[in-house]
Amino acid sequence: MRSLLFIPADSEKKITKALSFEADCLLLDLEDSVVPARKAAARPMAAAFIAETRDKSLRPKLFVRINALDTSEWELDLAGVLGARPDGILLPKARSADDVGQLAVALDHAEAKAGIALGSTRILALITEVPVAMLTLPTYLEASARLDGLTWGAEDLSAQMGSSATREADGRFTPPYQLARDMCLFTAVAAGRQPIDTVYVDFRNTAGLAEEARIAARDGFTGKMAIHPEQVAYINAAFTPTTAEIGWANDIAALFRDNPNSGALSLRGQMIDRPHLIRAERILARAKLAGV
Ligand code: COA
Ligand code: MG
Repeated sequence: MRSLLFIPADSEKKITKALSFEADCLLLDLEDSVVPARKAAARPMAAAFIAETRDKSLRPKLFVRINALDTSEWELDLAGVLGARPDGILLPKARSADDVGQLAVALDHAEAKAGIALGSTRILALITEVPVAMLTLPTYLEASARLDGLTWGAEDLSAQMGSSATREADGRFTPPYQLARDMCLFTAVAAGRQPIDTVYVDFRNTAGLAEEARIAARDGFTGKMAIHPEQVAYINAAFTPTTAEIGWANDIAALFRDNPNSGALSLRGQMIDRPHLIRAERILARAKLAGV
C-alpha cells in the first residue's frame, strides 16, 4: 500500500467520492476527524460504504481508524464496522504492542461473532502518538501476527509533549519528531512490517509533499498516509520504482545470475555485492506489486 488516504467517516460527500482517488488504501476515520457527537452516526456510514464496495475487484483496501483503547468508543467502533468486513483496523495512540494484542483479541471475538475467517482483519498501528510509546518500541518485534504495518504521527505527540512546533521553518522535522519518524522506520523494518510515513498536513504545498515522500522512499518507507485527494498521485509516484531503478535492478539481478560464483562484481564502475542484490530484489518486488 503506497498511499493511504484518510476520509472522515461522517462526511457523506467525502466518502461518496473516495473510490475515484486511486489511493491504495482508504482510512475511514472514526477518531480525531469526527467529533464525539458524530461518532455514532459515522459508524454505520463507514460500515455501509465497506459493505457496498466489498465486491468491487479493483477497489482500494479499506481500513477503519477506531478510537484509542483508553476511550469508551473503540469497542463500539469495532461492533459497528466489523460485520461489514473491513480489510483492517488502524489503531491510533498505541502505547506498546500490548495494545495491538488487546485489539487482536477483540478482533478474534468480533470475527467469530460475525462469521469471518479468524485473523482476516489486519492491523496497522500508529506507534509514536503518546510519549510512553517512544519507550516501548522494541515490543513490536513480538507483536500479533495480524499486524501488517507501522506508522507514526507528530501532531498528537507534540500536543502531549508541550512542543510549540514539530517542524523547523524550512519544513524539516525538529529533532524529537525526526527521532519518532526514524524509530518508526527501524521498528517496522526490524519487525518485518510495512513502514508507512506520516501525513503532510500543509496540503496545498504539493512540492513540499513530493519532496518529503521522495525522501521517505529513499530512506526505506514504502508508503505514506494522505489527508487530501490531491496528495495521492504524488505519493503513488514517489513509492513506485522508476524505469531507471527497475533497469538498474534488472542489471544487478542478471549480473549475479551470470556470475554465480562471484560475491563481488563490477557494474558501470561501481563495486556490487550482496546488499545491492537484496536492494535490487526489493525494487523488483515493489515494481511487481505496483504493476509496473
Ligand atoms: N477525502 C475525500 N474527499 C476529500 C478529502 C478527503 N480526505 N479532502 C477533501 N476532499 C474533497 C472535498 O470534499 C472537496 O470536494 P468538492 O470538490 O466536491 O467540494 C474536494 O475534495 C476539494 O477539497 P478542498 O476544498 O481542497 O479541501 P477542504 O477544505 O474541503 O478540506 C480538509 C480540507 C483538510 C478538511 C480535508 O482534506 C479533510 O477532511 N482531510 C481529512 C482529514 C482527516 O481525516 N484527518 C485525520 C487524519 S490526520
Ligand atoms: Mg490524531
